[in-house]
Amino acid sequence: MTVRDISAAKEQGERWPMVTAYDAMTARVFDEAGIPVMLVGDSAAMVVYGYDSTLPVSVDDLIPLTAAVVRGSSRAMVVADLPFGSYQSSPQQALESAARFMKEAGAHAVKLEGGRRVLPQVETLVSAGIPVMGHLGLTPQSVNVFGGYRVQGRGQSGDELMADAKALEHAGVFSVVLECVPADLAARVTAALSVPTIGIGAGPSCDAQVLVWQDLMGLTPRPAKFVKKYFDLAGEMDQAVRAFAGEVASGAFPAPEHSYR
Ligand code: KIV
Ligand code: NA
Repeated sequence: MTVRDISAAKEQGERWPMVTAYDAMTARVFDEAGIPVMLVGDSAAMVVYGYDSTLPVSVDDLIPLTAAVVRGSSRAMVVADLPFGSYQSSPQQALESAARFMKEAGAHAVKLEGGRRVLPQVETLVSAGIPVMGHLGLTPQSVNVFGGYRVQGRGQSGDELMADAKALEHAGVFSVVLECVPADLAARVTAALSVPTIGIGAGPSCDAQVLVWQDLMGLTPRPAKFVKKYFDLAGEMDQAVRAFAGEVASGAFPAPEHSYR
């Protein structure tokens, strides 16, 4: 999967899925299921490392996870999320961080949050030959400015978001994530851009949809309204580990077929 396949999909009106991944075995399952793009999100801060926001993770925290996803997949494009503090200070800093994800982990592209305020970073990365995915709307690295995880782009601020999206496209991003924005705004942005929009809580009109895998599999305790649970992984795991515990206590496990003679 390449950026060229991704632009071809928009031209042909084909919708596609993106999921997050943080380890090799999960990545292999998604890759073999034909998921074309995997994001090693800074959501790892919450779903892997147990923090209550995405802010605490560093490039050093995310590089091993990205490398694992790259090793576990063979067809998918692997996008590395640039974490908070790894790109905001300068285009040079953004380039150094992105280059580490590509050289040390084998990422194929990077994602960063923000619109016009990060254009110098986007331009520098693009001119260095790095495919860049934008991210607008509820950008979780700015949660302290938003005062919580709430819908963005309602009313007047929708025009700002549209302007940011056009500026990102002009700067050369190959796609833009729209997170937690009204469906009609996402539809207008999707129609206005020639690069694909990837929605999460952004309604049905986006060119692609992304979910955090623990959300879609039902592992997350209190998922957001925009999440659809396709499986009850927490419930299934709870049953399985209780069955294991019970059989250890009763002596039913291990049975002769699990033992060496
Ligand atoms: O970190 C993440 O998982 C993300 C997606 C939800 C877009 O940025
Ligand atoms: Na993210």
